[in-house]
Amino acid sequence: MAKLCFLAFVVLSCAFASVVLAAPTFTVVGKVYCDTCRLGFETNVTQYMEGAKVNLECRHFERGQIEHTVEGVTDNSGAYSLQLADNHENEICEVVLVESAIKDCAEIKPGRDRARVMLSNDIGIPANIRYANSLGFFKDVPLDVCKDVVKMYVLDDDE
Ligand SMILES: *[C@@H]1O[C@H](CO)[C@@H](O)[C@H](O)[C@H]1NC(C)=O
Repeated sequence: MAKLCFLAFVVLSCAFASVVLAAPTFTVVGKVYCDTCRLGFETNVTQYMEGAKVNLECRHFERGQIEHTVEGVTDNSGAYSLQLADNHENEICEVVLVESAIKDCAEIKPGRDRARVMLSNDIGIPANIRYANSLGFFKDVPLDVCKDVVKMYVLDDDE
């Protein structure tokens, strides 16, 4: 009986360990903002957007087709949290902007509309939380204060 119990214990802990090691669930967190100065990055007058829709998309890195899609919506601080199980080392996973919640701040600019995340366990990142870069919709007309904001960030005038 003791032997049987020991065997059962080993089998069960092996099964448990393989589930834990081989099939992590990744949590991808990030923020969506309204780019009130149309600068492509966050400033002191950035507004974080509640109710924005984002997708986590994983594409096979060779074949290119989307293998997984997880839909999400931002909370009142502009933050989202998306969960996807398993390792995705053969895929390119990105959080992409889908839909704005603010009518005059809904422009999506290619290249500024996605943030890459690595969803595999063998890249030296121990925890299963992944922080995606913030993503911004561009506001139609920049705020008046933006000329001062630009000075603060010491941007090239002819850029
Ligand atoms: C943001 O920075 C600009 C430039 O320094 C300043 O004029 C403005 O008052 C700041 N706004 C806020 C909300 O902090």
